[in-house]
Amino acid sequence: MTRKPLVAGNWKMNGVASETRRLISLMKNELETLHNKVDIVICPPFTSLESAYYALGQSSTVVLGAQNLYFQAGGAYTGEISASMIKEFCSYVIIGHSERRTLLSESNDDINLKIQAALNSGLKVILCVGEDETARDNGTATVWVEKQLREGLKNIGNIANINITYEPIWAIGSGRAASGNDAQEMAFFIRKTLSSLYGKETQNTRILYGGSVKPENIDQFLQQADIDGALVGGASLQAQSFTDIVNKAAGQ
Ligand code: 13P
Repeated sequence: MTRKPLVAGNWKMNGVASETRRLISLMKNELETLHNKVDIVICPPFTSLESAYYALGQSSTVVLGAQNLYFQAGGAYTGEISASMIKEFCSYVIIGHSERRTLLSESNDDINLKIQAALNSGLKVILCVGEDETARDNGTATVWVEKQLREGLKNIGNIANINITYEPIWAIGSGRAASGNDAQEMAFFIRKTLSSLYGKETQNTRILYGGSVKPENIDQFLQQADIDGALVGGASLQAQSFTDIVNKAAGQ
């Protein structure tokens, strides 16, 4: 089974619109030459999505993703952003990032509603799962991740537009990435869990790794049988390191 790799850059809360335009102009041409081999998604903050969209141009093969959405379609929800608002500029949305789960107490039930809203609007989902350091150390990482998958995907009938990212919380922004073997072990477990829910379709599901990914360590993840790309935080904020990572994914 060949799955086309996916590399997504999660810019988190970084960059005003002018910086977004600048960073995109530095990377756009090179990234576009790689699109036959790798799907490329850039996820700037909400306030930069429109600028990013026009900086890429409507026919760009590099597409945009949002970092979150609210599950309601519209109305009196001050400060929230709906799926249809995102859909104006984006093809993808990240849901369930651990920073939101931890800092904003986002639950698996919230995440489930968000996934439903995203899919109903035609957005592709990047669902993040991953354990904290205590769970990793006491051997309950798979229990943690299985719960996130089963509850997050409850009543979701079709997984075709869902990508999963395994992002161990202890590896995010810490400079301490998981080993390729540990990431593969979890990616295999994720695929097994998904296959108990969705059967053979799961062979097409892309599973990414995220957490301190850099050009220097991306190969150890891409070499793994069940890992199909990366969700990149800090290294996606530098044109050179992000294009290096995408080039490596294209070369696999
Ligand atoms: P870092 O690559 O900065 O560790 O961030 C990972 C991440 O959270 C991507 O969503």
